[in-house]
Amino acid sequence: MRERTDGTGLATRAIHAGERPDPTTHAHSTPIYATATFAFDTAAEKEAAVDRALEWDPRSYFYSRTGNPTNRALEEKIASLEGAEDCVVSASGMAAVSATLFAHLGAGDHLLVGDEVFAITRVLWEEDLPRRDIAVTPVDMTDLAAVQAAFTPRTRLVFLETASNPRLRMADLDAVSEIAHRHGALVIADNTFFGPALLRPMEHGADLVVHAATKYLSGHGDAVSGVVSGRKALIDPIRKQTDTFGQAASPFSSFLVLRGVRTLPLRSAKGSENALALARFLEADPRVEWVRYPGLPSHPDHGYATRVLGDRFGAMLTFKTTGGVAGMQAFTDHLRLCDIGVSLGDVFTLVYPRPKDGAIIRLSVGCEDVADLVEDLSLGLSFVG
Ligand SMILES: Cc1ncc(COP(=O)(O)O)c(C=O)c1O
Repeated sequence: MRERTDGTGLATRAIHAGERPDPTTHAHSTPIYATATFAFDTAAEKEAAVDRALEWDPRSYFYSRTGNPTNRALEEKIASLEGAEDCVVSASGMAAVSATLFAHLGAGDHLLVGDEVFAITRVLWEEDLPRRDIAVTPVDMTDLAAVQAAFTPRTRLVFLETASNPRLRMADLDAVSEIAHRHGALVIADNTFFGPALLRPMEHGADLVVHAATKYLSGHGDAVSGVVSGRKALIDPIRKQTDTFGQAASPFSSFLVLRGVRTLPLRSAKGSENALALARFLEADPRVEWVRYPGLPSHPDHGYATRVLGDRFGAMLTFKTTGGVAGMQAFTDHLRLCDIGVSLGDVFTLVYPRPKDGAIIRLSVGCEDVADLVEDLSLGLSFVG
């Protein structure tokens, strides 16, 4: 086979990394290897493949819970984009989060976690970790003095979201990582809200980067998937945990996410452009109480956001209409283009009303024409009292 390259630019690697024409059939698109097991000519070959796989050689295949070529193609693509040595894919974003925490925490250890994180990650640290004698301290990661003060001699990990869910606070990852490393702790960044085309947390000190690949990496709302990237020595225990807990990714989901990631840089650019326009539009409307978007000067972390993101601030924004829950519902229930749904990161714009959380509205801005989005939001606002 001729020599090939992934290229060097991010957009080129998003397309090429991890993917090669199939060596036997020459299929150009990476196939879905829909197989539970892999067959060998001899017992010795089987034994060698199993031994290599269980020493965490991710290209040694014998059983798809442990390793699968479609899953591996996705892992190699994401590792390339994150600038990481290795990556492991799993059944969902929560599989990635939980496998990472359980692989690197044991009884008696202490975790520092961002005080605003995805609701199910919160269940994990409020219920599942304490039951296993793992101490947890939630901390406002944007308050560096509070972060510094929260460490104990048993602190092993710091877990934060690069933009907190749903209020989009951005902690200074470089500073948090510097403090954590001084205390001998690892930093895990959940980068679901930005994705590697906008922000690569390992360039800012993070040791491991987690994604709900369900969101921007897939980009089309048709797969549930998770990934973790980092040094191989840190990924191996997570791969083992994923195998033992049976959290393996489905090759079909990995195929869909692989296809999605190829256009991630294009979608990240378009989503950021649309979101900035909508954030400005909403902020100027008297029926909107406030807008939280890292690209607006009114955002409390705008300075840091500009430093690490440049002029593309992602496609998530949160706002509050006037009129409380009634105003929120009047807005969401009259939209004709944007759908109400709890997920994010889709090419379709999704609206997530949160009546039990201050009647705020989280908007995952898609890749539609911005004029159509403005028209739809204007329609919704026209019903706000
Ligand atoms: C920031 C963040 N992390 C993790 C997850 C979990 O991902 P999944 O739903 O794929 O398990 C989500 C889901 O919304 C999320 O928003």
